[in-house]
Amino acid sequence: MTSISNKKDGSKIHPDVSSSSGLSHSPKIAFSHWDQRYSQEAWSEIPDPELVNLAKDLEPGRALDLGCGTGRNTLWLAKKRWLVTGIDSSYVGLSQAMTRARSLNLNIELIHHDLAEYDPPTRQFDLVVVSNLHFAEPMRTRLFEIAKSALKTGAYIYFLGRHKDSIGHKGPSDPRVLFSATELRDKLIEFEIVSIFKAERNSKSGRPPSTNVIGWAKRED
Ligand SMILES: C[S@@+](CC[C@H](N)C(=O)[O-])C[C@H]1O[C@@H](n2cnc3c(N)ncnc32)[C@H](O)[C@@H]1O
Repeated sequence: MTSISNKKDGSKIHPDVSSSSGLSHSPKIAFSHWDQRYSQEAWSEIPDPELVNLAKDLEPGRALDLGCGTGRNTLWLAKKRWLVTGIDSSYVGLSQAMTRARSLNLNIELIHHDLAEYDPPTRQFDLVVVSNLHFAEPMRTRLFEIAKSALKTGAYIYFLGRHKDSIGHKGPSDPRVLFSATELRDKLIEFEIVSIFKAERNSKSGRPPSTNVIGWAKRED
């Protein structure tokens, strides 16, 4: 992982590459279908309402947004005075997040990196966000390992993933990457679970609403 440095405007960039977006492009990561998608369609800027509700009363600290994409949740947390690090393998997504952060005069840290090879600083974060990351094993398990390693004792993981009930609706259809509440409970076995619940999302395309499963849990030890 390349380290990050401060810019005059408060945004942070990798020091070894300067580009118009102010982000360092990791040469090891190829242009992906996510880069393609973010280039072609405007991604939502609205943070997860469940995250907003669960985190709104927490004292701001350091947050890590895994697979932050274009930064919906990263930017909401930054507005709430969290010091946020977003990590994603899509350079296009991160560039959009950085552009928005600048226009809102927000200070965020963004890292272009593959989560498969990412070792977070241990026990540094007060909140880890994992939203809409639909991986098959072994990456699915790795996400929770990264989160646990990054969190301080007593700090929170927020997880949102598409529920298996949503097969056939918009979004991923491979059951191996979707979740049931029981499967999420198993993944959070090493955490103290505060709540696991389902929530529906209305689809803009007029299709039936899809269901997400949300987990809110604490690192115990
Ligand atoms: C559905 S989007 C979710 C983005 C964001 N969390 C949100 O909810 O708006 C999935 C994101 O995961 C990122 N991603 C996929 N595989 C990744 C990997 N191996 N390492 C880092 N990011 C990855 C993609 O680039 C994409 O931005």
